[in-house]
Amino acid sequence: MKTSRRTLVAAIAAAPLAFGLSLPAFGQKKIVLGFSQIGAESEWRTANSESIKSAAAESGIDLKFSDAQQKQENQIKAIRSFIAQKVDVIGLSPVVESGWDTVLKEAKAAKIPVILTDRSVDSKDTSLYVTFMGSDFAEEGRKAGRWLLEKVKGTSGDVNVVELQGTVGSGPAIDRKKGFEEIIKSEPRIKIIRSQTGDFTRAKGKEVMEAFLKAEGKKINVLYAHNDDMAIGAIQAIEEAGLRPSKDITIISVDAVKGAFEAMIAGKLDVSVECSPLLGPQLMAATKDLIAGKTLPRRIVTEEGIFPMEVAAKEFPKRKY
Ligand code: AHR
Repeated sequence: MKTSRRTLVAAIAAAPLAFGLSLPAFGQKKIVLGFSQIGAESEWRTANSESIKSAAAESGIDLKFSDAQQKQENQIKAIRSFIAQKVDVIGLSPVVESGWDTVLKEAKAAKIPVILTDRSVDSKDTSLYVTFMGSDFAEEGRKAGRWLLEKVKGTSGDVNVVELQGTVGSGPAIDRKKGFEEIIKSEPRIKIIRSQTGDFTRAKGKEVMEAFLKAEGKKINVLYAHNDDMAIGAIQAIEEAGLRPSKDITIISVDAVKGAFEAMIAGKLDVSVECSPLLGPQLMAATKDLIAGKTLPRRIVTEEGIFPMEVAAKEFPKRKY
């Protein structure tokens, strides 16, 4: 059977669609997205970077990805380099909330729109970014607090909590603390006796928990960790101190990554509040909408749940990160 030239051209043009890809048409320039990532501090962050990279490849967006190794100065340098390269859109997950105005003004002057993902900034001038997509961190803290209130209902005596905070000055550390405190204040028996940063990493989480145990020992009833990695590091410290995680110390954390599910299934972590890192597809859709001249909502909130130990084994096979 002979294939005409026209049939062949149509078949080639349709091929990307058949594979679910939306590549730019012939001759059309690819959208260039510069993305400044915080680093690789946690299992969550690894899943987030992977989501962004794979979504960019699937959407036919040219992604310039920069890892700041948890340093704001590296993120500022990356944004300046994106401006110099004249990218179409800048994506930013800011390590801390403050100190962004100058560089965001430079992006605005260069007419490059900025999308904030995962974490936000505290700039008074909200015209410096077009939207902020990500979790409601205060609500995550409230969910953790409500779970604890429920857990201590009907018991008596003090409930001594130690808190492992995230990176100092970061949105999730500030808001998860605030949200948790807002809820537990209705139960005066619950007291935060120690609170310190573990910088969202396993190593720091372990180190700080060791110090908490040394200082407070068996007085500690509950650990509230702002992420799963710090909780997993702390579990090691608790076991090394001869105590039983979850049995001697109730453990509450945030993210709901696979590592947390494994710890829950092993009976070592009581509950993890979900914080989804799968922001890539949303970021690519927003980038395309911006280039197409559409107006984005100012805030796009990720929907999330909470997973107590009792449901971990059933939920685990469904987890994507
Ligand atoms: O900003 C999201 C937080 O950053 C996650 O909870 C934490 O694991 C990550 O490093």
